[in-house]
Amino acid sequence: MTDDVFPPQFFARVDESDDPLFYAEPRIVTHIDDDAIVMVGELYEELGIDGDVLDLMSSWVSHFRTPPRHLRVLGMNEYELKANPAAAEHIVHDLNAQPRLPLPAESIDDAVCCASVDYLTQPIEVFRDLARVLRPGGRFVCTFSNRVFPTKAIRGWLYGTDEDRCAIVAEYFRQSRVFEPATVARRSPDGHLGDPLYAVWARRTDA
Ligand SMILES: C[S@@+](CC[C@H](N)C(=O)[O-])C[C@H]1O[C@@H](n2cnc3c(N)ncnc32)[C@H](O)[C@@H]1O
Repeated sequence: MTDDVFPPQFFARVDESDDPLFYAEPRIVTHIDDDAIVMVGELYEELGIDGDVLDLMSSWVSHFRTPPRHLRVLGMNEYELKANPAAAEHIVHDLNAQPRLPLPAESIDDAVCCASVDYLTQPIEVFRDLARVLRPGGRFVCTFSNRVFPTKAIRGWLYGTDEDRCAIVAEYFRQSRVFEPATVARRSPDGHLGDPLYAVWARRTDA
């Protein structure tokens, strides 16, 4: 597959105003339903996500069944991040303005991102820099459903099916060239009536 699979306007959004405007007001809500939240926590537990962990594009909840030893949460709204009971540290940082993470190299064991990867306008750059801050062998676990803030999600995500969205995230991993091939899984069972949950994750290469 070539690297030009994302057509022009793929990363454009209806609302191209600066992200801090949209995220200025705290939203103490959940963005996926209770069953999907449980499935996220089960996946983290199954994968053994623990130690120094970064929750990328976080809010007041991180969905861990048992919080990691040291959880950093990075997002746009300070009030939400401060309200996150699992977090040991919070970082307000706009990844669309600056894809480079304000963290030292190899300072994180694993990273997660729930219900948010669709808001990244420069995902390859973010994934590549995330590999810089992950320790060798560290994993990045993206989970998502089919709910979005439609004005802030990238156009390519809005026009995709759920399966396309899994392929999009796997392609971000591939194009970043710093992760092993991604695992793609539908985590909600067949016939499940609530929010479907998908997960795409990969391990940082050692190179
Ligand atoms: C739908 S919410 C999901 C929040 C949380 N991960 C969860 O599972 O409930 C989207 C999150 O993405 C974060 N976000 C959106 N745009 C961002 C950006 N440009 N840089 C960093 N974080 C961003 C927001 O702070 C917001 O909390």
